[in-house]
Amino acid sequence: MTVIAVLPGDGIGPEVIQEAVRTLDELDLGLTFDVLEHVNADTFLASGTALTADDVARIQRSDAALLGAVGDPRVTTPDYVRGVLLRLRFELDLYVNHRAVSLLADHLSPLKDTKRGAIDCVVVRENSEGLYAGIGGSLRQSTPQEVALDVEVNTYTGVSRLLDYAFDIARSEVCMVDKSNAVPNGGRLWQRCWAEHRGRHPGTPTRHLYVDAAAMLLVADPASFDVIVTNNSYGDILSDLAAELGGGIGTAASGNLNPTTGFGLYEPVHGSAPDIAGLNRANPVAAILSAALMVERLGHGDAAAAVRSAVARAVIQRRCTPDLGGSLTTTEAGAAIRAELG
Ligand code: NAD
Ligand code: IPM
Ligand code: MN
Repeated sequence: MTVIAVLPGDGIGPEVIQEAVRTLDELDLGLTFDVLEHVNADTFLASGTALTADDVARIQRSDAALLGAVGDPRVTTPDYVRGVLLRLRFELDLYVNHRAVSLLADHLSPLKDTKRGAIDCVVVRENSEGLYAGIGGSLRQSTPQEVALDVEVNTYTGVSRLLDYAFDIARSEVCMVDKSNAVPNGGRLWQRCWAEHRGRHPGTPTRHLYVDAAAMLLVADPASFDVIVTNNSYGDILSDLAAELGGGIGTAASGNLNPTTGFGLYEPVHGSAPDIAGLNRANPVAAILSAALMVERLGHGDAAAAVRSAVARAVIQRRCTPDLGGSLTTTEAGAAIRAELG
């Protein structure tokens, strides 16, 4: 029996997760769902802790996890998302954030003359260290002389294992993105690991870009990218940019992976979208494609391919939500995809 821990979260999270779970049900893969509905901002506001050690253990006992989104305008400290999403990424050592983008339908491209199939890349984002490590402090807090420090952690092991994954999944190229022209220590470490990996994979074409140029080239020449491997912060930013190239933030899927244990926490790249929460307007495609990535990595490659092509067919026929040029609600868009599944 395969158990999926489901964390609907906040805002549009429960709305899009409902469509993802209904789609998984349709596939008949014998999955059972352990739903952790209480992991949300209401619980955080009431008790100060949204995700307990028991919850983490429950998630660890499952075969994979599927999350909607966490975040709520009533919560103004980073403690909440750090205590849920970043805690899971760090404690379960989900060191790869795999964020693939391919253009869903030609009419969705924000670029000139781009054809479906040409944009097809993966942002491999470091997910267990970097600027998100939570190390730092504030001197002379709340005074005009305040100095705030957040240390960016880069480890040889962390960078090396990420590069291993990037080279493993490369089809035509690996592009490493850093800022080693300006950031001395982390830059040197990434360059050292990069040189070692290139030496170990002489058959894989490679490219190095500074992050500013990478942002520019992702817009100017998106079809030239295959795998983009980078640190936690740059990966966060570039994956939202790439999401727009693929059709919009409502379509971008991701997996927080530990390639060694095989465990993954799958989630849309987007957040809880408080501006449209509760309106049945949110695009469920990113959540459904995240579920497809999950079942693919659980060994159901055919089911994943069927979901992806059902999504593409529904979107091309404009049987989708307004952000993709359709006029369907979240629930109708989910049903349209399931209808295409047959
Ligand atoms: P967001 O992704 O929630 O929203 C950005 C914009 O995209 C909004 O206009 C929103 O309406 C739109 N959008 C997002 N998802 C959509 C969908 N499925 N369909 C249609 N439109 C969609 O980003 P934000 O506004 O910066 O963040 C809102 C909250 O979500 C914050 O609390 C943030 O911390 C949190 N967040 C959580 C995650 C996560 O849980 N993985 C990711 C990003 C942001
Ligand atoms: C994402 C989100 C998170 C991140 C936030 C909510 C902490 O933006 O998953 O991309 O920065 O990793
Ligand atoms: Mn992000």
